[in-house]
Amino acid sequence: MKRLQMLAPVLLGLALGAGLTATGASAQQLDLDEVFRCSGETVSHENCLAARQVLLNDCTTCHTFVPIVMQSFDENGWRGLLTRHVENGRVTQVPPEQIENLRLYLAENFNGELPPPDLPPALLETWTSY
Ligand code: HEC
Repeated sequence: MKRLQMLAPVLLGLALGAGLTATGASAQQLDLDEVFRCSGETVSHENCLAARQVLLNDCTTCHTFVPIVMQSFDENGWRGLLTRHVENGRVTQVPPEQIENLRLYLAENFNGELPPPDLPPALLETWTSY
């Protein structure tokens, strides 16, 4: 009996996995290198990765990353957005130099000149969920 109880979660997991595959839900993959691209000359590859890390760790507790990569601002626009977020206490854990790196990263990669990243519909729906 004990053995069966231990098996149950495993079987449930297998059933769920099979279900997802059958509906095609697991067929959609997200290439983080494409979404969080590093397209310019100003921000080094290393700093791009650092900015991505901040985005995923500190910018996705209230909304998803979708509004961030779909929204296009120039350098001043991103400055305004980030300053607003910091000053009204939304983002408190990120040191100023990392905010500045994030601003340069966003301005170089999400500025309206490059097309927005190609995101699956289920993610795009989260754009307005704040
Ligand atoms: C504590 C919650 C919270 C955190 C954390 C947060 N945001 Fe937001 N964000 C909001 C809210 C609320 C809005 C909608 C109102 C607004 O635009 O200020 C928003 C809106 C946005 C928008 C859309 C603005 C527009 O004009 O469409 C962007 C882009 C954005 N946030 C970027 C970021 C970035 C970058 C970070 C990390 C540095 C971040 N957010 C972290 C709460 C948060």
